[in-house]
Amino acid sequence: MATPAENSLTFAHHPHPSPVAADVRAQVLANPGFGAAFTDHMVEIDYTEGRGWHDARVIPYGPIALDPAAAVLHYAQEIFEGLKAYRLSAKGSEEGGIALFRPEANAQRFNASARRLAMPELPEDLFIEAVRQQVLIDKDWFPTVEGGSMYLRPFMFASEAFLGVRPAKQYKFMVIASPAGNYFKSGAPAVSIWVSDYTRAAPGGTGAAKCGGNYAASLVPTAEAFSRGHDQVLFLDAAEHKWVEELGGMNLFFVFDDGSILTPELTGTILPGITRSSLLKLAAEEGLTVREGRYSLDQWQADAASGRLLETFACGTAAVVTPVGKVASQAGEFAIGSGGPGQLTQSLRAKLVGIQRGEIADTHGWVKRIA
Ligand SMILES: Cc1ncc(COP(=O)(O)O)c(C=O)c1O
Repeated sequence: MATPAENSLTFAHHPHPSPVAADVRAQVLANPGFGAAFTDHMVEIDYTEGRGWHDARVIPYGPIALDPAAAVLHYAQEIFEGLKAYRLSAKGSEEGGIALFRPEANAQRFNASARRLAMPELPEDLFIEAVRQQVLIDKDWFPTVEGGSMYLRPFMFASEAFLGVRPAKQYKFMVIASPAGNYFKSGAPAVSIWVSDYTRAAPGGTGAAKCGGNYAASLVPTAEAFSRGHDQVLFLDAAEHKWVEELGGMNLFFVFDDGSILTPELTGTILPGITRSSLLKLAAEEGLTVREGRYSLDQWQADAASGRLLETFACGTAAVVTPVGKVASQAGEFAIGSGGPGQLTQSLRAKLVGIQRGEIADTHGWVKRIA
C-alpha cells in the first residue's frame, strides 16, 4: 500500500547544465538504432525501509554512485520495464501530441516483478508520473526516422550496502530514455530463430518476472544464436524440453489455416507481454479464434510442412510485431511460409501501430496522452 506521502511526491527538477548540442542530437535522431543513445535527463526516486519512497527528482543523465557492497551487484536484486512513448500523428491543423501505450499495465507488471524479487512496490501513479516526467523533460529526443519512438526503461535495484543474503532495505527506482528506431539490425522481412538447448526459466522460478537475472542467463544462448547467424533465441520448457515458450525478448504467435491463432499460455515461466495481451484482444475483434495453450516444437515443424501453419510472428514492445521465417535447432531447420511477412502478421501489426500512433481509434483506453 502506498503511504499518503508517496502518493503526493513532487519531482524536484535539476536541468542538465550542458545538454547534447542540437546538431549532434539531430544526427542521433536520424539513425538512433536501438538502445545505444540516451537523452539528457533521468528520473531517480529513493526507497528506505520505514520511510518508503522519497526524494523524487529529474536530474542530468549520468553515472550513479554505488557502494561496492550494494546488494544488486552481488545478488542481482533488480527488476525493470520497457515501454515506449509515441508522437501522435498530426490531425488537420492540430499538432500531434505525445502518448504512452498502456503504461498502467507496465506499472502492474513492475509490481508483480517486485513481489517476486522481494522488493517494495511502487504506487502505480508514481510509476506513470515518473515516466511522464522523463518523456516531457526530453521531448526533443523523438527520432525523426520512420517508425521511431522513445523507448523508456524504468528499473529498480537494491542499493543497500550489505552482504548478507536477505531482501535489502534500500532501493533506487530510476527511469532512463533512449530514442529508438528498428530493433533488428538485419532489417530482414522475416527473422531467423535458434532453438536453444539451454532453458530460460523453470517452474517456480522467476520466468514471469522481468528481472535482470533472467536476461543474464539468456546471454550465452543468445550469443550462440547470433554466432550461428540467427536473429533471436527461442526457449523450450525446462521440464520436457518440448513445448515452445518464448524468445529471449519476445512472445510468439502461430497462425493457422482454419482462422485460429495460438500463443503459449502463461504458465509462470514466460513473461506476460503487454503486446501479447493487446494482440490477443485485437485478433479476437478481427473474428479469429484465439487460443492460449501448449504447442510443441515437433508439431510446429509438422504444421509448417503440411501447410496447416500459415504464419509465425514474434511480438514485444521493442520489436513490435516481427515475422519469423526460419527455425533452426540441433535437429535441423525448417521454413515458415514464403519467408516474408504473412497477411495476418501485417494486418495485426498495422492495427497495433495505428492505435499506438493515434491513426486508428483507440476503443480500449490503451493510449494515454501526456502532451
Ligand atoms: C522475455 C520477454 N518476453 C516477452 C516480452 C514482450 O513483452 P512486452 O510486449 O510487454 O514488451 C519481452 C519484452 O519485454 C521479454 O523481455
